[in-house]
Amino acid sequence: MTDRPLEGPVVVTGGAGAIGSVLVRSLLERASEVRVIDNLSSGRREHLTPGPGGKKALLTVADLKNPASYADLFRDASAVWHLATNPDIRKGMSDPRLDLEEGTVATFHVLEAARRHDVPRVAFSSSSVVYGLATVFPTPEEYGPLQPQSLYGAAKLAAEGLLTAYAHSYGLTVHIFRFANVIGPHMTHGILPDFFDKLRRDPTRLEILGDGRQSKSYLRTEDCVAGMLHATERSRDRVNVFNLGAVDQISAREIGEKVVAAHGSRARIEYTGGERGWAGDVPLQLLSIRRMQALGWEPRWNSAQAVDQAIAELVEARGVRTGAGPGT
Ligand SMILES: NC(=O)c1ccc[n+]([C@@H]2O[C@H](COP(=O)([O-])OP(=O)(O)OC[C@H]3O[C@@H](n4cnc5c(N)ncnc54)[C@H](O)[C@@H]3O)[C@@H](O)[C@H]2O)c1
Repeated sequence: MTDRPLEGPVVVTGGAGAIGSVLVRSLLERASEVRVIDNLSSGRREHLTPGPGGKKALLTVADLKNPASYADLFRDASAVWHLATNPDIRKGMSDPRLDLEEGTVATFHVLEAARRHDVPRVAFSSSSVVYGLATVFPTPEEYGPLQPQSLYGAAKLAAEGLLTAYAHSYGLTVHIFRFANVIGPHMTHGILPDFFDKLRRDPTRLEILGDGRQSKSYLRTEDCVAGMLHATERSRDRVNVFNLGAVDQISAREIGEKVVAAHGSRARIEYTGGERGWAGDVPLQLLSIRRMQALGWEPRWNSAQAVDQAIAELVEARGVRTGAGPGT
């Protein structure tokens, strides 16, 4: 296994997405070349903004399920950042093959391309949902047994298994990052876009799935990317697993109230009831970030600050006229 310098060419799958595009911008400052593979299913070409000195990432529009269309991009690469997948947990409920194909099989193809081209390092965006309904909070990386509640979570756990097997079988160094909820610009799914969509359709009421007490940790995209870079630059075990989250939680009810306030409306908040928002949901999530803290990383935003910032960005991006709704 060669040990190509970190600053050599890097491959980013899903680089046109919400997290990937922020990662790509940071990598443009570090790597000689940034090669993005994205099928633009939820990502956008325009998210790929130039880095310092106008340096641009090279985008190949390709689907990870078709490895012949992109495997050559792994030639001479020093690292792969594998972020592409179906990002929407709820979609897997109605299409049970989706996460198997987009998460597990696609990860196998990425690892095979890395192995064939002797790429020494692979970093992967896993998720807190691999812990399932944890009983220890904040949940440390050693927590088990891992029993995901959704097919998305199952695909993340299977992908983690493939990464560790490739690491031990073929000598790759792998970094597995289990993200809390990551929020920031260009979000396409999740609680905030969902609440904004609902208020646009009916400004008089906001339906919150579950009893509103589901509480999770929200990490700003920039913190997430800074954390991944920080860890990959400092930890060199064969297999490195890190939680990445904020230090605190915020409830669905509090987020709903913030979104209603940002619309300047007096929309009624209604709850569908039950502990879970939907089948497969994990109502309580708070990750221990001690491992990252031991490496000297701290998130700059807490959950409430990350939510406030993301709400302000959505108000701007969607041209929300605060106070214009009938509920005011
Ligand atoms: N956002 C979160 O809260 C969160 C939490 C935990 C884990 N993650 C993980 O982080 C990663 C990035 O998520 P995101 O929030 O930026 O989502 P996103 O949808 O913005 O990014 C995913 C990107 O992958 C691309 N893509 C999807 N399927 C593809 C395929 N088959 N071939 C090529 N490209 C494909 C999409 O076009 C998109 O650009 C994902 O792996 C996601 O599971 C995100």
